[in-house]
Amino acid sequence: MTFSLGWKMIGLRNRKTAVLGALLLATLLATACYNTGTGAVNVGGAINFTMPAFPETGSHSVEMWTEMHFQPSYRVQEGPRLLPPEGSVPISGAEILPVSMDAFKALEIPQEFSGNYDDASAWRTYQVNCLVCHGGLLDGKGPITTLVGSDGNLAYDRGPYPADLRSDATKNSTDGELFGFISGGGRQGLAVRLRGRDSTSPMPEYRKLLSEEDRWALVQFLRSRIGQ
Ligand code: HEC
Repeated sequence: MTFSLGWKMIGLRNRKTAVLGALLLATLLATACYNTGTGAVNVGGAINFTMPAFPETGSHSVEMWTEMHFQPSYRVQEGPRLLPPEGSVPISGAEILPVSMDAFKALEIPQEFSGNYDDASAWRTYQVNCLVCHGGLLDGKGPITTLVGSDGNLAYDRGPYPADLRSDATKNSTDGELFGFISGGGRQGLAVRLRGRDSTSPMPEYRKLLSEEDRWALVQFLRSRIGQ
């Protein structure tokens, strides 16, 4: 039906001429130039017309992935983001540690952590994380200081030795300082860290390993054992 309509439209009277015409058109198209960018077709330098254009659009022209991170909508929502109004104070999110010794010194045990202090669970935290070095008596003579390696030498051979936490130096430190020493990898570790360099103390930086709440619990635990 469509085909016979087509004959009449192009003024052809019978099937034979139509087939000949179609062959002619096919030959012409075979020698034609088609520009994918503009859709312009040129046949044999004589006939010009325009077809739909299919410009090159790059390798991600068609988004067929359903995962969020492939979608343009997701990329559009990536930064730069709106910043919070100037002067606003964060009330949630990552912990912000002081950047000077004086600021650590002035820190006090946050009420939310002093209120729910549980001695048994703090002792457990100490046993798991600290006892190996500082010992069950807090005297700095933990098992690590006596371990002997396969070569017969002490395994812990790179000083300094774990601090005796019953010492006057520790006793006279404020709660904030103790929190700083625990968070920053000991007194020396924290001092180096506050100068902007990586800690060289053998003591780990517990800000990376224990929650803020656990570290404040350890401060209270130490205070309850060493006094002052
Ligand atoms: C791998 C061994 C090691 C572990 C584990 C360790 N410490 Fe230490 N700690 C040290 C060493 C060594 C020092 C002395 C060097 C320094 O202060 O950086 C020290 C120093 C300290 C100080 C400073 C004492 C002072 O007055 O100078 C405190 C407080 C402390 N540790 C508490 C802890 C607590 C609490 C834990 C457990 C969460 C812990 N440490 C785990 C090795 C360790």
